Amino acid sequence: MRNFISYSFIKAILILSIITVMALNAFASDTTLKSIAPFPFGASVNVTLLRNNPTYRTIAAREYNSLTAENVMKMASIHPGINTYSWDNADTLVNFARQNNQRIHGHTLVWHQSLPGWVTNFAGDSAAWENILKTHIQNVVSHYAGRLASWDVVNEAFNDNGTLRNSIWLQHLGPDYIARCFKYAHEADPSALLFYNDYGHEYSASKLNAIDSLIKSFLQNGVPVHGLGLQMHINKNTSNSSIANAIKVMAQTGLKVHISELDIALNPEGNQSLTFTSALSQLQADKYNFIVRAYKNIPAAQQYGITTWNVSDADTWITINYSRPDWPLLFDSTYQKKQAYYAIIEGLTSNWNYDAAAAQSASGSYTDLGNNGAAITTNFAGDTMTFDDDNSTVQNIGFNFNYNGSSYHQFVLNTNGFIKLGANAPSSVSLFYPTYNANTNGVITAPDVDLLYPYNHDLMGTVTTEYRVYTSGLPGARICTIQYKNVADKLSPEQYSNMNFQVKLHEAGNIIEFVYGLWTASANTSTLITAAAGIKGSYVNNSVNLVKGSGNSWSLPLSTANGIYFINGDYASAGRQFNTRNSVLPDVGRTYRFTTLAITTLPVTLLDFKAVDKRTGIFISWLTANEVSSKDFEIQQSLNGGDFTSISTVMAKGNNSQATNSYSFTDENIASLKGSIYYRLKQNDVDGRSKFSHIITIQRNNEKQMLSITAQNPFTNDFKMQITSGTAGRISLFVINVTGNVLLRKDVQIVAGTTIIAFKETGHLPRGIYLIKGIRDNEASTIKLLKE
Ligand code: XIL
Repeated sequence: MRNFISYSFIKAILILSIITVMALNAFASDTTLKSIAPFPFGASVNVTLLRNNPTYRTIAAREYNSLTAENVMKMASIHPGINTYSWDNADTLVNFARQNNQRIHGHTLVWHQSLPGWVTNFAGDSAAWENILKTHIQNVVSHYAGRLASWDVVNEAFNDNGTLRNSIWLQHLGPDYIARCFKYAHEADPSALLFYNDYGHEYSASKLNAIDSLIKSFLQNGVPVHGLGLQMHINKNTSNSSIANAIKVMAQTGLKVHISELDIALNPEGNQSLTFTSALSQLQADKYNFIVRAYKNIPAAQQYGITTWNVSDADTWITINYSRPDWPLLFDSTYQKKQAYYAIIEGLTSNWNYDAAAAQSASGSYTDLGNNGAAITTNFAGDTMTFDDDNSTVQNIGFNFNYNGSSYHQFVLNTNGFIKLGANAPSSVSLFYPTYNANTNGVITAPDVDLLYPYNHDLMGTVTTEYRVYTSGLPGARICTIQYKNVADKLSPEQYSNMNFQVKLHEAGNIIEFVYGLWTASANTSTLITAAAGIKGSYVNNSVNLVKGSGNSWSLPLSTANGIYFINGDYASAGRQFNTRNSVLPDVGRTYRFTTLAITTLPVTLLDFKAVDKRTGIFISWLTANEVSSKDFEIQQSLNGGDFTSISTVMAKGNNSQATNSYSFTDENIASLKGSIYYRLKQNDVDGRSKFSHIITIQRNNEKQMLSITAQNPFTNDFKMQITSGTAGRISLFVINVTGNVLLRKDVQIVAGTTIIAFKETGHLPRGIYLIKGIRDNEASTIKLLKE
């Protein structure tokens, strides 16, 4: 089992906020990307432009503290003849960067593209090929030793399906060439940080897994690798969650993560007459904003930086490479800053990181404030005190509450069940949320920002109404409780004759809680009330909101199936509202909690998580250790790798932190499923926290041809495997180690049905993980086995 520990698949949650860029924070005119970013912010540069275009040069020097050569350090440029190196262009860049105190990241030593003719035409045995590879790496790296901080040692070695790309290097040198490239680079400059660079982490789970496995094997075998480059050539359709997942999974290796070639294309369809509209500009800005926020959430020591692939839309490779109009970068073709630029500045400075995925529901207790703290009067600007459609005077929080990039020590309470942080009154005294499609006077679509709304509806006071604020606790862990006591809704017919609820602001961790007390139903017939419950940041869609069906209990575990869950952004449509009615009251103490997320440690250690296609069902199993306050595991399935739904829940075996627990579940609903099926686990804690496992993929082809392999796992010496197939034929079986080396090959005849194959030569294999792959024509099936 010990082997598995280093494969620990603990995944922490990143912030997945769907954030829209808003009215931009004012910032000083001398603000630049490099002055604002807490990590290096870079661009790749074109040396011809650097020499000839003064505007380009000015921006390159002013905005970035890291530079990458877009082309001039690639093999075809820098090593044009077997014994000829051409340093001029690269040296120009290096000198420029050094004059401007900029870090230089080398790109790239070994790639399947940009090969000089002498390489593509090279004839020699594998030793000769090894020699040209090694000589190239060592001459280039040592030429720049001490001047370059880091190198993309190997670029794009994987196919999208996770297999190794059939490059000239693989053909002549075998799969271990990658590890040797790192070794050679390290020998030439032991202080350079060495990166594996690739693209597609966002859309290919297979490639992401392959890179993950490669890195784990490198780390196990002492191969000198220090970082991962995620090129991130994405487009307007790339989903935010897939971006966050890519960053998260790569960060879990513990290596440095470089977003190394970022650009966001707006015309992936290749529409020749497309123009750059404000809608596209906004979409792009939102995505840039999201990326920097997601990146800010990996540990600071792993933030190697974000590098965009060139400077302006006039210089981008996208338009040339794909022969289409496009606008993927931060400066427009006249070198003016685009909305995307400001969105990055905003993302770098903002602290808004609340997210629906991080919101929780918990049971708790409700403690009335009694006489603690101070009663709040509702006569904001010295107007008359009323309990209907009114704002309070400015109240003190009692400490600085950090919200949405600003620090607030004050708030204004509105009698319609919401709070506005800061000293300014809301834009209207009568902001409430009547229905989802007529919500123009609701808090969510109001121009007001920084709102907290535990129960935003048309509320009013009763004879005993009181609003109160009380701050308790010690500095660093103070809690400000804002209480609505004895209020009622103003609906006709009124539903709740008495309602009590609180907002709690926690100084520690920026946590916001809504706590509901005793509510009393009116005697009226039960009627649907559409209210709003959630928190709003600095823009209309920058909010996290609770959705609930009116008849659904407030205490149900959060899930779409239960009809109670959180969403990012406005309710926006029927079926996504926060509904209540007097026949369903909140349970006293019900707490909805909003947290900002950072990488935290999963309380449960997931030692192994795998799925095997048993034809009649997918057998999913996992092992855990250190289970403390673990509640259950949701098995989630996706057919596109992105949208997961829970298909079952398995109760946790409990809080036995010493023991290892094993679990399994068989997904039998697969008869109609073909292609890739993705599974992940959502582990829920008793306190409402939850974490996701990594994603595993099962490949199902047509029933008739499908090859399916199962075997005893783990195995020790000899082992047997069952191969099931609809058709008889000859297949090749491979035993592959984690570095991708083929250790054994066996060609076997199989029957239609199940064939049992015995593997006898496995005694000498070291303990560890192996892949067994069966290949026939275009079909392949792979299983992962542990040798103990
Ligand atoms: C591109 C350059 O931007 C182009 O100018 C050149 O013609 C081809 O290469 N992934 C990489 C980069 O790692 O090196 C590529 O750069 C873009 C894709």
